[in-house]
Amino acid sequence: MSDSPTVRRFEPHEWRTYRDLRLGALEESPDAFGSTLALEIPRPDAEWARRLEAGARSPTDLPLVARVGDRAIGLAWGRIQDTDAQVAHVFQVWVAPEHRGRGIARALLNAVIDWAGAAGVQYLALDVTCGDGPAMRLYSRAGFSPSGDPQPLRPGSRLMKQSMRLPLSREVTAPSAERTLQLNSGVRAT
Ligand SMILES: CC(C)(COP(=O)(O)OP(=O)(O)OC[C@H]1O[C@@H](n2cnc3c(N)ncnc32)[C@H](O)[C@@H]1OP(=O)(O)O)[C@@H](O)C(=O)NCCC(=O)NCCS
Repeated sequence: MSDSPTVRRFEPHEWRTYRDLRLGALEESPDAFGSTLALEIPRPDAEWARRLEAGARSPTDLPLVARVGDRAIGLAWGRIQDTDAQVAHVFQVWVAPEHRGRGIARALLNAVIDWAGAAGVQYLALDVTCGDGPAMRLYSRAGFSPSGDPQPLRPGSRLMKQSMRLPLSREVTAPSAERTLQLNSGVRAT
């Protein structure tokens, strides 16, 4: 089995993998996300299954898994909000520490950019914790710029988050089912 990282959409039945990645991310990087391990860990399995299945089947969601061989090592979730089809949000971006610096987060981001562009979305939006160097650099290098003033990461938190936006070109075309993108650092989006 190849050790090249790959990025693809989650299958509807893969909720255990999604749950384990998400809880692992919240445990490993507690200051990177609006949610917390304490909030997410009590969720029953049925809720994880419902959440992933709904997202994996929805045209307005893009739950992504990054894999190396048969190991799931990263995730991201794109979502076009019901209230505004012009904007897609990027959530839950995380790569396991031992696989960082190989272009995997950039490949996850590129997959969301392709998908959102094909859906006719005008810009991507996300929140990043102020002072989170690697995440801030990831998004800046991808072309995101700050939007608005920093806000508390969570109600009452001393940590602050910065909203960032990326305008999308209208010329992006839908990726064909057969297309396999060769992305930076050898990460393939399939
Ligand atoms: C932020 C994170 C997702 C980056 O993942 P990654 O797979 O290592 O990132 P990549 O290898 O794709 O790097 C993408 C860009 O970010 C930059 N970057 C990533 N990690 C960096 C670091 N530690 N220091 C400096 N730059 C870094 C890279 O230089 C690269 O830009 P370049 O290739 O144009 O120079 C990862 O560190 C992570 O999971 N952190 C904890 C969770 C988190 O902060 N998530 C973001 C929530 S908003």
